Amino acid sequence: MNELEINKRKTFGIVSHPDAGKTTLTEKLLLFGGAIQVAGAVKSNKIKKSATSDFMEIEKQRGISVATSVMAFDYKDLKVNILDTPGHEDFAEDTYRTLTAVDSVIVVIDAAKGVESQTEKLVKVCRMRNTPIIVFVNKLDREGKDAFDLLDEIESKLDIQVTPLSWPIGMGQHFKGVFSIFEKNLKLFKPHGKQDEEDTIEIASVNDPLLEKIVGIQDAKTLKEEVKLISEVYPAFEREDYLLGMISPVFFGSAINNFGVRELLDCFIQIAPQPLPRQAEERIIEPNEAGFSGFVFKIHANMDPNHRDRIAFLRICSGVFHRNTNYLHVRQNRKLKFSNPTSFMAAKKTIVEEAFPGDVIGLYDSGNFKIGDTLTEGEVLHFKGIPRFSPEMFRYVNNVDPLKTKQLAKGLDQLMDEGVAQLFTKEFDGRKLIGTVGALQFDVIQYRLLHEYGASVQFEPVNLYKACWISAEKDSDLQAFLQRRKRDLAKDKSGKWVYLAESPWALKLLQENNPEITFHFISEFE
Ligand code: G4P
Repeated sequence: MNELEINKRKTFGIVSHPDAGKTTLTEKLLLFGGAIQVAGAVKSNKIKKSATSDFMEIEKQRGISVATSVMAFDYKDLKVNILDTPGHEDFAEDTYRTLTAVDSVIVVIDAAKGVESQTEKLVKVCRMRNTPIIVFVNKLDREGKDAFDLLDEIESKLDIQVTPLSWPIGMGQHFKGVFSIFEKNLKLFKPHGKQDEEDTIEIASVNDPLLEKIVGIQDAKTLKEEVKLISEVYPAFEREDYLLGMISPVFFGSAINNFGVRELLDCFIQIAPQPLPRQAEERIIEPNEAGFSGFVFKIHANMDPNHRDRIAFLRICSGVFHRNTNYLHVRQNRKLKFSNPTSFMAAKKTIVEEAFPGDVIGLYDSGNFKIGDTLTEGEVLHFKGIPRFSPEMFRYVNNVDPLKTKQLAKGLDQLMDEGVAQLFTKEFDGRKLIGTVGALQFDVIQYRLLHEYGASVQFEPVNLYKACWISAEKDSDLQAFLQRRKRDLAKDKSGKWVYLAESPWALKLLQENNPEITFHFISEFE
């Protein structure tokens, strides 16, 4: 029974640089799955740069991102779970963490802009874990880069090997459709999403005389040449290689025109992995194990300050989760049970009785969870791969209202558990520093501390380049270093030592002069 349910599930994320078309593609996928009825139902979960000081906008976006955190739908007897990832780079850490909860990703690339910076960063994180990647080149209805050039760019900038499974015929105004290398047919393009069944023409190969009749002599000739070149240059698609993260199939289309999206989805459900095993510090956990386990990868605070509850998003890794059943909260070493676990089927929140590996459920939480927490049936497990990243922007926190010291401490504590930013306490003078990956977080923190906890803070700039975790093989080496560099040391929330480097040069020099010390840029190291 459990095995059957596991095999039905595909849990993935869509990643892209802002504006490449992630929201549009998500929406079209949901339309196919019947999860929404009309286009425009998925609000863009975007925070534009201009919105940095517009707090209402931040709140609004927060509401949207609760609703779109997980979008589950049924398609051809399968259960597809899309986990949303914020595109805005200031929230990159949120995205990194969400990527720990998926089994594969679809990367969307704008045909005109090619591979952009945010895509590069996110794919790097996927590569670290060998997450299987499918690439969707979007906006073929506009003039874009040459398809071969795009493949080269994807390979070099994303450091992945690709193989096209569809190929465009023309582009922009002359875009006629795509030849599906995967299904061996021709899909003809009509703008404005007006594709229907008749626009798919089965042809045995590009040598089929029908091809010339349909796309014209010149385009048929080009397509033949290009498909030949593809077969010579790119490896044939092997699912095994894709599952190992060694090769990424590429599709071409236009999300807004709903072109190439069904082909992408149909191929995705055939090739994408089912829920995969997860690595815990103690051992590897297989999805088909009987005992339930799962981890929290995201926490969302309720936006109503009168109800300070939060939703913790839990990815189920093994066994079956049941409502109203006692589970071990490993970090707190106590049993918890949940009366209202939520699923996000068809974009609606409903209470679930049970959930299976690959599923994500929302647990109402009054402050028990922090990111990375594990729930099990009793075994002590700590899932790996939910690191914190070395922040790059720092400010001192100054309490403006001494009467609200307690509220401030509580607010900071909870916001840090949610993963909004990281708090460091300097060893030398006990001052508290907040470190983030993006500037927007400071606005969010200040606003939320005031509105949800009644605490006022001011931030004081501090000139720092990076905070990195430190370790040494010999404890005596570490102790000696700690003694020497007292002024530049802090502890993170879990009590780990962190070195505060002022500049890349200072850090480099320090590394050279202290070879016995290892400087880590993610919090997870052994
Ligand atoms: P994002 O989530 O990755 O940030 O991108 P989103 O889907 O919001 O798309 C960004 C812009 O690109 C949108 O236009 C969207 O309509 C457009 N777009 C998406 N797919 C295609 C496509 O296949 N072809 C073309 N030509 N455009 C596409 P916008 O003007 O920013 O927003 P809107 O006013 O259309 O909502």
